[in-house]
Amino acid sequence: MARDFSSLKQLDIPVKVLFTGYLTSVAVGYLFALIQILFTHGMADGKFGLSIDDIVYSYYGNRSGTVLETKLNGSMKENASEQERFVIIQWVRDGADEEDYVDSGAQKVIEERCVMCHGKDAPVPDFTDFKVLKELTKEDEGATFSSLTRVSHIHLFGISFIFMFVGLIFSFAETTTVKYKSIAIGMPYLFLLVDILSWWLTKLHPMFAILVILAGAGMAMSFAFMWIISVLEMWAFDKVFLDANGQQRPQWSTFVEPRLKQMGCDKALNLGGKLCCMTRSSVSGLWQRFMAQGLPWLKQQLQKYLNKKS
Ligand code: HEC
Repeated sequence: MARDFSSLKQLDIPVKVLFTGYLTSVAVGYLFALIQILFTHGMADGKFGLSIDDIVYSYYGNRSGTVLETKLNGSMKENASEQERFVIIQWVRDGADEEDYVDSGAQKVIEERCVMCHGKDAPVPDFTDFKVLKELTKEDEGATFSSLTRVSHIHLFGISFIFMFVGLIFSFAETTTVKYKSIAIGMPYLFLLVDILSWWLTKLHPMFAILVILAGAGMAMSFAFMWIISVLEMWAFDKVFLDANGQQRPQWSTFVEPRLKQMGCDKALNLGGKLCCMTRSSVSGLWQRFMAQGLPWLKQQLQKYLNKKS
């Protein structure tokens, strides 16, 4: 059936530049978002890298401790020394009384280590106001209702906008079947809703933390899929998706087809089958290579290292 809209490869260069510029900026934005997640949520349990614990601490909270304590063992760990943090935690555990604030030494540490960021007019809680500090010495119940509502609506509006345009650009792609296209375009929205819902569920019960990670991963996967296909179709269609006679998929291109044959994957019927077959084949190829060359090399290095030691 003739298509009644123009395909990505046929777009005028200026439009391609526009689309590519947008996709690139959004991808870099995505990267920064990931870095930010690593440094805030990722540090919630005090260790670098995102884990289930991080998600639980961020949304459900660390119910056996206080916010101040959780933060001092998490993302604020680097801001004070072991002893200084101990002084504050000790004061918190002793009841965080205003009378003890100065005598315990907690005030001195806060003034020296925290107020430069947590001062007046700062976007983070102002520790020069004792009441604000006192609030944070209550049981840590994770994200507050108001912060969750705020982040939820920002995410829903912002991210659905991003996927509106990424999906719109991708909808002009030709190399994926209607079925895969619809899945790729719809998935981010489903995952976005599941993601936001799972924050709220995690606030109720820590078991839902895994859902936060799964939804995030699903969203990233559909983003990467749409991004790569769109950019390739705009700029490298003839190199990746066509054969020498200008035939479209399933022949794929003169570059891809021989490789598929070589791997024995040219018989797989659809894109999914081809991808599965290629992944299987390249993993086993890499494994064979590792056994043939990598392992002996590693052994050799180890031997050298051991010889040097003895
Ligand atoms: C370099 C600037 C900086 C310094 C120094 C700093 N903080 Fe923070 N603090 C932040 C930022 C940014 C946030 C928000 C991001 C986050 O929660 O990790 C924050 C958040 C917090 C929160 C969570 C507030 C909330 O409402 O959830 C606590 C508690 C906290 N800091 C305690 C401290 C303590 C105690 C110190 C001193 C040992 C300290 N911070 C030093 C920048 C700083």
